[in-house]
Amino acid sequence: MLSRTIFRALIALEAAATLALAQTNITADVCADPSAFTSCTTQALATSKGCTDMCNGSKMCVLGCGCAMYQSYINCVAESCWNQAYSCEYDKLVAAYFSQCSTAAEPIPFWPAPDSAPGGCSCNLGKVLQSVTKAQQEYNTCITNDTSTSVIQQGNQNTACGCCEVSAGLSAMYETCPDTIPADMGADIWLQASTIYGTVIHWDKCGSVLDQYNCHNLGFAPPSSNSSTFYKPANLPPNGTLTLYNTGPANAVTAPPSGSVFTWSQSSVMYTVTASPWKNGQIMVTSTSIATTKTSSTVTGTSSTVPPGATSAATGTAKTGAAMSMKELSLVGPAAWLQVIGVLMLV
Ligand SMILES: *[C@@H]1O[C@H](CO)[C@@H](O)[C@H](O)[C@H]1NC(C)=O
Ligand SMILES: *[C@@H]1O[C@H](CO)[C@@H](O)[C@H](O)[C@H]1NC(C)=O
Ligand SMILES: *[C@@H]1O[C@H](CO)[C@@H](O)[C@H](O)[C@H]1NC(C)=O
Ligand SMILES: *[C@@H]1O[C@H](CO)[C@@H](O)[C@H](O)[C@H]1NC(C)=O
Ligand SMILES: *[C@@H]1O[C@H](CO)[C@@H](O)[C@H](O)[C@H]1NC(C)=O
Repeated sequence: MLSRTIFRALIALEAAATLALAQTNITADVCADPSAFTSCTTQALATSKGCTDMCNGSKMCVLGCGCAMYQSYINCVAESCWNQAYSCEYDKLVAAYFSQCSTAAEPIPFWPAPDSAPGGCSCNLGKVLQSVTKAQQEYNTCITNDTSTSVIQQGNQNTACGCCEVSAGLSAMYETCPDTIPADMGADIWLQASTIYGTVIHWDKCGSVLDQYNCHNLGFAPPSSNSSTFYKPANLPPNGTLTLYNTGPANAVTAPPSGSVFTWSQSSVMYTVTASPWKNGQIMVTSTSIATTKTSSTVTGTSSTVPPGATSAATGTAKTGAAMSMKELSLVGPAAWLQVIGVLMLV
């Protein structure tokens, strides 16, 4: 049986043609430095097109260009739109990156947002996605650790593994964001994905399966950080009714959360990001509160004060194994992006 991960990769390859046009819904007007953000995303789009052109139709290569594009959008946010780092739109950008790029891995800057982050999304989509990803991994462990002796028993247990996976994902959504419309946190996609790929799991029919099997005994951890309930189709809590919204104004985050300079990496590419100071006069005029900022533990930051006149820039550094030859790369030309793709091809 093909694992869901492999199925996802195949589906992702099918989608490769549109992947290079990955977009972010973060608009420049709400950014700390609108013009820097605009030029950064414009550059990312242009370079992505150049990258795709170099692929000669290779789907794996196009996929790599998409991954690099998401990474450069994340860099754009870190540089000139860091005040949106906890917004719903950034959460969705990271979610799209994880769903379309198989090599995406934590840590991702500013993600998931800390609880009650200033200006944060009404639903911590990052926490939800982490729970869903955990459920997928637990499913894979569950089906490979099936010690049943008969084929029928094995089939039943595999079905139980699938029902637990679907339940764990849904339970995390309903518990983490009880007020949010489940579809807005990806519930429909989750239900579809879990019935299309891998073992066919009919969530509607999982009730009797979950009556017989205990997900905890099958190796599943509590679905969310504050609840160990594995809901069944018949006892899911009522759906939340609120759409996603940001809980604070665009200027709720007043200084770059990771400091003015920080680094992060994906695969073997390391980025050094320098944050722009505030240049959006319009947003600053309405500034009323000074929010406390935290230095994220997922990335290394330096100082949380922005040097006057700091320029924004992200450079990629290619790490070659432990030797880490610090070849400075600017993500301005397709050639640099091929570093990212090269890594992908080896995976
Ligand atoms: C695409 O073809 C060109 C010309 O043949 C070649 O130089 C380039 O390396 C190819 N790109 C890839 C990613 O294979
Ligand atoms: C951007 O918005 C469009 C339209 O609402 C949506 O289909 C798409 O998934 C969004 N993309 C991201 C990355 O937020
Ligand atoms: C596999 O199943 C056995 C028996 O149920 C359990 O003791 C063991 O911890 C499981 N291994 C993993 C990796 O979950
Ligand atoms: C779990 O946490 C979320 C967000 O922090 C909260 O809204 C929800 O009510 C909590 N659920 C329980 C069962 O405590
Ligand atoms: C609740 O949300 C789920 C997931 O989006 C959906 O399938 C279901 O139909 C909704 N239930 C109601 C009563 O609207």
